[in-house]
Amino acid sequence: MTQHARLPIRPTLPAWTYSNAELQGLEIDALFRRSWQFACHVNELPQPRDFITLDMGPDPVLVLRDEAGVLRAYLNVCRHRGARLLDGSGQCKARLTCPYHGWSYSLQGPLAARPSEETFADHDKSTLGLRALELEVLCGLVFVRLTPGGPALHTQWQEFLPQLHDYRLEEMVPLGAHWVEDWACNWKVGVDNNLENYHVPLGHPGYQRLLDSDMMGSLNAHGVAASTSVLRAQPSSNWAERMYQSMAPLLNADLPASVRNAWTFFTMPPNTGMDIYGDSMDLFQFFPKTATTCTVRYPIYVRPDSRREMKVLRYLNARINRQVSAEDKALSERVQQGLQSQGFANGPLSRYEYCIEDFHRRVQEACPVTRLGIEPAPGFSRALRR
Ligand code: FES
Ligand SMILES: [Fe+2]
Repeated sequence: MTQHARLPIRPTLPAWTYSNAELQGLEIDALFRRSWQFACHVNELPQPRDFITLDMGPDPVLVLRDEAGVLRAYLNVCRHRGARLLDGSGQCKARLTCPYHGWSYSLQGPLAARPSEETFADHDKSTLGLRALELEVLCGLVFVRLTPGGPALHTQWQEFLPQLHDYRLEEMVPLGAHWVEDWACNWKVGVDNNLENYHVPLGHPGYQRLLDSDMMGSLNAHGVAASTSVLRAQPSSNWAERMYQSMAPLLNADLPASVRNAWTFFTMPPNTGMDIYGDSMDLFQFFPKTATTCTVRYPIYVRPDSRREMKVLRYLNARINRQVSAEDKALSERVQQGLQSQGFANGPLSRYEYCIEDFHRRVQEACPVTRLGIEPAPGFSRALRR
């Protein structure tokens, strides 16, 4: 893993990259579609024919369990004229039928039938199956990748797998519906904010009272980073945090001692965060919406546990983390406002912010135009794609 202390300090991405709509198209292609994106937990698709749909930026995605129990991911788009195939989630039929003209697909992907077959000049249906996406399951968490290639998910997370296993994520089930919220900032502002704990002492008074924050954490060669903060022994002055401090170690007694009191925050480039607590976990992803707004997807998962006290502990956790999330949203939106002001030039990064440096380097490698200190003239993305 990278020794953060030795990293040279380099400038951050220039301000124009946080409000340029053309750049967003390049980022979706070069960063989002080429990276692993969280879709759901395997326990949300327990039965054959269970499916979920979700949007990954502009790309509609479908994940299902076929009759043989195999998980499959597809672009949720009909191969005829591009209609979106399925909506929502639930149980699908043995064939996936497009609501527009009725092309139907088997759950394994091939086009099975289409109305008025004799009217088509092409009689080879074998090339017209649903577009399959790469799918990999990490500790019960289902990830998909739209553009194939690149390292396996397990390879990217290798150093952190023992830590993940400690929390028994594969047993988890969703707690309520996935939460979705729009933030008034470019998606990279939200990611930057999530990549450092330097802002915790001032930005999150609750975390500061509750946790002994790990300001540095660790980062591997794939850009996956982790920091583990431990509940403080000193009781918080806030009642909810104090209750959480006293209850968590007792109620999490079935977990290894090292993680009972620990909150571990993982990040994976370009847009994913994973916060794991003894009582629950949440996953969040920032997706570009416009150049200056993003959509945050935020599902929560828990290990099945019917104890009343565990319900209370999760309520306390949600109360604490709702506040933290509101603080992060407000801070990120303040940054967006500042970045758009004329004449802002980047300040230096603290060593506590070394993961931002790594993230920006990845953005620069994927989209070299972001190395330009001055905003390129309109039309640059068309020129780059030629
Ligand atoms: S678009 Fe799906 S059948 Fe025509
Ligand atoms: Fe934060």
